[in-house]
Amino acid sequence: MTALLHLSHVTKVYRQGGMLGRRLITAVKDVSFEVGAEPEILSIVGESGSGKSTIAAMILGQTTPTEGRLEFSGKTVSIHSRSERKAFMKEVQPVLQNPFEAFNPLKRVDRYLFETARNLPGPGKRIDRKEAERMADAALVHVGLTLEEVKGRFPHELSGGQLQRVAIARALIPQPRLLVADEPVSMVDASLRMAIVNLFGRLKNELGLSIIYITHDLATAYYVSDNIIIMRKGEIVERGQARPVLDNPQHPYSRALKEAVLAADFAPAL
Ligand SMILES: Nc1ncnc2c1ncn2[C@@H]1O[C@H](COP(=O)(O)OP(=O)(O)OP(=O)(O)O)[C@@H](O)[C@H]1O
Ligand SMILES: [Mg+2]
Repeated sequence: MTALLHLSHVTKVYRQGGMLGRRLITAVKDVSFEVGAEPEILSIVGESGSGKSTIAAMILGQTTPTEGRLEFSGKTVSIHSRSERKAFMKEVQPVLQNPFEAFNPLKRVDRYLFETARNLPGPGKRIDRKEAERMADAALVHVGLTLEEVKGRFPHELSGGQLQRVAIARALIPQPRLLVADEPVSMVDASLRMAIVNLFGRLKNELGLSIIYITHDLATAYYVSDNIIIMRKGEIVERGQARPVLDNPQHPYSRALKEAVLAADFAPAL
């Protein structure tokens, strides 16, 4: 079966200091991996600057690889026109790090859900208010909320965990096949992190969604992921099924990463 997402020999070189900058930074170097046809949670972990967000940006079509190829459902990802981009964005949705940045503080959060629903159909079709409310409610139920609970609320009237769940609900409205969540729990209280990653597990099982989960948090990665990739300086240093890899890391860097986390006492699950 064709993989949902396939990166093959992807390299991204940034020119620092703008178009005329002289310094070249290889943010991602010859990276290849797949998200399979079956729903899967793939974690990408690695120290700051190892290229994780750059990979996310390429998968989301926000930047193009310098070399190599990305295929989604067997088709090369090329997002030249607006309509192509819109169609692609339905299939692959981002979940941002800081939900408070994803929402305008002066706008009621339900508006975002309604607007996302109403923007879905192509020209000539319309989703009315009732239908938009129904879609918003259905998406909220998947994240353990209801429209009743968030209706008319401003972002500051919700907790960080609730707001992150509303952001995830919004990402679900277009019925994507892949979520790309870049550090989705780093701004959320430690006590609520497990609730968010549990939610990822449920979305995988109930909706057949695949999720790329980018994190520094090895404990939640261990707990929720099927597969894991460990990155260092733009390259993959270790990969495989999450539990065997984290139980018994082979690469010295993976071992050091695990030890650092254990020493900081952040990882009761490991
Ligand atoms: N738009 C950009 N222009 C120039 N250099 C960039 C750009 N984005 C990222 N970089 C550089 O590319 C490298 C990888 O950055 P990236 O943000 O992908 O790392 P990361 O693994 O997501 O780090 P973190 O854990 O801190 O989020 C870094 O050296 C960074 O400075
Ligand atoms: Mg990052």
